[in-house]
Amino acid sequence: MKRISIFLLLVSALSSCSDGPVQPDREKDSVYTRKADSVLGLMTLEEKIGQTVLFTSGWDVTGPSMDPNYKTYLKNGNVGAVFNAFTTEYNRELQRIAVEETRLGIPLMFGYDVIHGHRTIFPIPLGESASWDLDLMEKTARIAAVEASAEGINWTFAPMVDVARDARWGRIAEGAGEDTYLGSLIAVARVKGFQGDDLSASNTILACAKHYAAYGAAMAGRDYNTVDMSENELRTTYLPPFKAALDAGVATFMNSFNDLNGVPATGNSFLLRDILKGEWDFDGFVVTDYTSINEMVPHGYARDEKHAGEIAMNAGVDMDMQGGIYMKYLKASIEEGKVEESDLDDAVRRILEMKFRLGLFDDPYHYLDADREKELVLNDEHLEVARDAARKSMVLLKNDNAVLPLSEDKKVALIGPLVKDEKNIIGNWAAAGDRNGTAVSVYEAFEARFGKEDLLFAEGCKVLGDDTSGFDEAVAAARKADVVVMVLGELEGMTGEAASRTDINLPGKQKALIAAVKATGKPVVLVLMNGRPLSLEWENDTADAIVEAWWPGTMGGHAVADVLYGDYNPSGKLTVSFPRTVGQLPLFYNHKNTGRPIPPDDPDQKYVSRYLYTPNTPLYPFGYGLSYTSYSYNATADKKTITPSDTLEVTVKVTNMGERDGEEVVQLYLRDKVASVTPPVRSLKRFEKVAVKKGQTRELTFRLTADDLKFYNEDLEFVHEPGVFELFVGANSDCPLVHTFELVEE
Ligand code: NOJ
Repeated sequence: MKRISIFLLLVSALSSCSDGPVQPDREKDSVYTRKADSVLGLMTLEEKIGQTVLFTSGWDVTGPSMDPNYKTYLKNGNVGAVFNAFTTEYNRELQRIAVEETRLGIPLMFGYDVIHGHRTIFPIPLGESASWDLDLMEKTARIAAVEASAEGINWTFAPMVDVARDARWGRIAEGAGEDTYLGSLIAVARVKGFQGDDLSASNTILACAKHYAAYGAAMAGRDYNTVDMSENELRTTYLPPFKAALDAGVATFMNSFNDLNGVPATGNSFLLRDILKGEWDFDGFVVTDYTSINEMVPHGYARDEKHAGEIAMNAGVDMDMQGGIYMKYLKASIEEGKVEESDLDDAVRRILEMKFRLGLFDDPYHYLDADREKELVLNDEHLEVARDAARKSMVLLKNDNAVLPLSEDKKVALIGPLVKDEKNIIGNWAAAGDRNGTAVSVYEAFEARFGKEDLLFAEGCKVLGDDTSGFDEAVAAARKADVVVMVLGELEGMTGEAASRTDINLPGKQKALIAAVKATGKPVVLVLMNGRPLSLEWENDTADAIVEAWWPGTMGGHAVADVLYGDYNPSGKLTVSFPRTVGQLPLFYNHKNTGRPIPPDDPDQKYVSRYLYTPNTPLYPFGYGLSYTSYSYNATADKKTITPSDTLEVTVKVTNMGERDGEEVVQLYLRDKVASVTPPVRSLKRFEKVAVKKGQTRELTFRLTADDLKFYNEDLEFVHEPGVFELFVGANSDCPLVHTFELVEE
């Protein structure tokens, strides 16, 4: 015990200068490196390996296995970080063991999946991305960090920055949707929110860009599945959000489960050494995903676990999550010369540097303050932001005859399996969110507005199963009402990890319930809670209005009521295309044209790139979302020709034509007409979310330069080429052409 105090004093004395922000800063980096090196010099081989080992506690388990001996390993100095452990009381004890009972007393880091809030739960990331509000996303990540850090956590496994285009893939819920440009900006906002500008502060935590790389392209939308793609596609679509996170100073990366072009991401030195640590000069550390080193054996890439560990360390994986492989085999691999000790030293140095940046060597307990925990978690300010984030993330998909907003003098029947739900409403990966009590259901929100006596309610059916015995009660409730609000969707466990679906319809008997209720002739409003795009063609034909509420989080019920009653005018826009049918997947707006696109003037032509009985287009396109008002657009640009040093100015006037104030996401897309690599039909280049009062016109200016026209050519150089470009401006990705210009040589 005495040993450790001496050690900590030694380390602090070695460099007394204060630790600063995590943003890349060469001078400070060398301070951290010197500090890490000073510790490294004191360590045995076993102690070094210990720093590369991450185990889950039994507090929460987020993967297929859990090793009950983790505390013994910890006492033996074999563990550098613990995840799935939180609360100051629990983590303080683990930290005490690390600090007081191991030879060197190196403090632990504590990781957790703080994905969309810690105790106060915000909308699932896909939902929140539909707000297109970067400041909001930074703010919710900040609050998540404040709460998590108040409960002993100093490292989140977020943000997930995987571009995802296949709604079958359950993890589409955890990301920012299908677009690389928007996804990159959201990655930055979230990293900034989690990490703040000083990682040594007690309310900031390390972020983790995951899952590196191309996990979102899992074949057929089946989780953990194979990925095979060109390097051009990898660099164009899947890597930029990771690079953006890195440029924002993200402290850690997590590798993905999939293999990429035949090499598991965990053993992929092209991804890790060549790109991440080489080309991009990443100075944080790389953690595996849960047992992904071990999984190189079933991948058929490693002969056995020891071999897998060698492949991983040689490829540049610094920390082993839950696999126990480095702990068991790395020493032998080094002694046999299969792994260089210098590579281990590099991994340990990176990990120790982060512990220094977090201020753990100055005070291992500074994230473990029970007073902060009491004061901060679920406080009123956090709940208010959760309500705001939830309503800003909701997308109005349909609103016939202005059935919404509801007027308070109309009698409403609340029908559906999710009306009273408090469990699913906070969504999957809801960290330490409370599924039984704190979350506000739609029913509770209505009760708060109107009182219990006034509420008509029927569950109708469950989300899953064939039982229709509740239909009669639902129909009877509908008959007594002026308008019906049906809250339907998926169970939270139907999205997220290991939750891929081949059928993306509303599950169970929910469609039949809609049909039965609709047959009463009453207007029907659907409020959908789900974690992926669903195929809603029938619902779109049947219901009068549809609100996509996602999994809206702790304050979800209030946010739904705010939107339904017009206290908030919906402004959310889809960040992922909603297909008509699952057979269209993967579906995304910035696809290529093919050599046989459907001619607009001859849409039924045979021998073109099409499906037989389904249009190619989505039901609701990327960027789409209605409002209780409407907007008109007028866009102009200042030049017909630009050179690589010019700036093109695009002026957009947006007028609110309706009777309500609102917020609009103004979007600008670009098409490269001809390029040496086939270009997408259009790509998002700029957007701005603006508040526009009724009758008001707002003027925005977007500036584009030749950098915005760049793409990866056949030699993987990021270049622009002279030629003609088209600009499209409007309220979603299907907006009209407004300008054509040419890029010419200087
Ligand atoms: C597996 C998931 O893929 C990853 O996203 C998560 O962070 C880890 N488990 C830890 O729970």
